[in-house]
Amino acid sequence: MRGAWEPVTWGDPGYLDDVYSDAALTTQLDEHGVPTSSSSQPSLMLTMLEALDVRDGQRVYELGAGTGYNAALLSHRLGDSRVTTVDIDSGLVEAAVRHLHSTGYRPTAIVGDGARGYLHNAPYDRIIATAALPMIPPPLLDQATEGAVVVAPLGYGIVRATVTGPGRAAGRFLGTPAYFMLRRAPGNPPQFESAREQQPSDTHVPVGDVLGRLRFPLSIALPGFTSCSWRDDHGRLDAVGLWTPDGSTAVARTTGTVQQTGPRLLWDTVEELADALPGDPDRADFHLEVTPAGQRVTHRPSGLGWELPTLP
Ligand SMILES: C[S@@+](CC[C@H](N)C(=O)[O-])C[C@H]1O[C@@H](n2cnc3c(N)ncnc32)[C@H](O)[C@@H]1O
Repeated sequence: MRGAWEPVTWGDPGYLDDVYSDAALTTQLDEHGVPTSSSSQPSLMLTMLEALDVRDGQRVYELGAGTGYNAALLSHRLGDSRVTTVDIDSGLVEAAVRHLHSTGYRPTAIVGDGARGYLHNAPYDRIIATAALPMIPPPLLDQATEGAVVVAPLGYGIVRATVTGPGRAAGRFLGTPAYFMLRRAPGNPPQFESAREQQPSDTHVPVGDVLGRLRFPLSIALPGFTSCSWRDDHGRLDAVGLWTPDGSTAVARTTGTVQQTGPRLLWDTVEELADALPGDPDRADFHLEVTPAGQRVTHRPSGLGWELPTLP
């Protein structure tokens, strides 16, 4: 990715057009050129805020302060004292506070792992996450009121769940497609060399399904799943790569062959899902149930279900 990015700042041609476009804007890269923060796509933020359905007097907790923009919207609606926003990156929180103060908002903005919540301002009536999570962090449920609404990206979808009791919540996914950057956690970056050393086998699943109709179900069935694609000189899809944080990798080519390795044979899951979920599965058919014993996503029409992992 290094070299593919160009900074755009105030005064540059097109700056305001970008700022007012309905696009996610990358606001920070790490030393490898990988985005670590962004201002989310405005229409997606609005969809999430609508789903959050805040009411006067409610307290809101946001995981992922980023630029502070969403926190500003929430502060405008509810008042500063009702909003708590957390980011894992101290530089981002400093900048968010500057942005918020310059526009007249003073919510609580703190540095930390947002999965832990912030007891001092709890309990919260509404919880929103703007970084992708592997599951709803249990500490956030402990800091929520009964009936609280949680809106959070899980995999490549956004779940809206209602807290039904201590450590319990239930809900379903919004129909909206969504991609949020992953909640940051230690781990190794994807690498595909070891898969390419394996004996190829045949597959009947079109590899493009991984980037299309199966992308969301795969992100639930294979937590932490990342995919990438390789294209030929004409931009035609050549192969896709799949990776999960346990080091499992698969590379599938449009010629119908697959190579895979690791603790989990990822393409086996692709084939299971491809056979069990015909067509383009509707995200709203996926339901989440949280109990103190664990979290489970079920696809009601097919009866398929997956346990979500505990937070690393
Ligand atoms: C899409 S951006 C947030 C956009 C933001 N809500 C806004 O209005 O600009 C995701 C943010 O989540 C933060 N993040 C990632 N992991 C986190 C964690 N474990 N706890 C808190 N924040 C985290 C990132 O640093 C990044 O700023």
